[in-house]
Amino acid sequence: IENTAADVGFWAAKYIKRKILDFNPGPDKYFTLGLPTGSTPMGTYQKLIEFYKAGKLSFKYVKTFNMDEYCDIPRDHPESYHSFMWNHLFKHIDIEPENAHLLDGNAPDLDKECEEYERKIVQAGGIQLFLGGIGPDGHIAFNEPGSSLVSRTRVKTLAQETIIANARFFGGDIAKVPTRALTVGVGTVMDAKEVMILITGAHKAYALHKAIEGGVSHMFTVSAFQMHKNTIFVCDEDATMEL
Ligand code: GLP
Repeated sequence: IENTAADVGFWAAKYIKRKILDFNPGPDKYFTLGLPTGSTPMGTYQKLIEFYKAGKLSFKYVKTFNMDEYCDIPRDHPESYHSFMWNHLFKHIDIEPENAHLLDGNAPDLDKECEEYERKIVQAGGIQLFLGGIGPDGHIAFNEPGSSLVSRTRVKTLAQETIIANARFFGGDIAKVPTRALTVGVGTVMDAKEVMILITGAHKAYALHKAIEGGVSHMFTVSAFQMHKNTIFVCDEDATMEL
């Protein structure tokens, strides 16, 4: 528990930096990092950029895999997760573009795209550290209520609650929010060596309570991480109000 959301971002970025440096990545040994979008990780990305600019951290031997991507909007749409990641992180650091993996929500065969994504993660040696946030309905990535806790990367129809929550990024217009997305599964994230989930703000207090004090349930998919061997929840004081 950190005091503020800004402290959470700083703490998480320092943790990621330490993990990458301790791993000592090189041309034969890439560090693999799973990444989310959303407003919560933005402070972390800002700090990672600062570490890179200060010469304290390089992403040259880092491979990233993003959690999810909308379907049915162009890749260069300002609200695609591809645009989000390039604008908020990738274009500011020294990651090789081919090492920054995102699902293609417009692939001609979406099932094949998802299968290949799983294969790419395995080929990269699995995810060392998966960073995540949570939606107000307890979803991790886009694993909406009812998702299997052993699910893999697949197409998912978004819950109405998620569409309403994400409308703020589409000019507040629910009709403009895509209704489908590609998402890694709960099982895909559970396979990561380590998982770090960021939760900030009073509006996430009930979600944090359910995530760590509620029962493990496919109706609140982030609760699955109670069963993960190495998961850390990093939150601010505001998010702890219901604990
Ligand atoms: C989206 C993403 C999730 C993210 C959630 C929370 O639904 N698919 O991965 O955790 O938003 O977003 P925010 O951090 O803006 O609350």
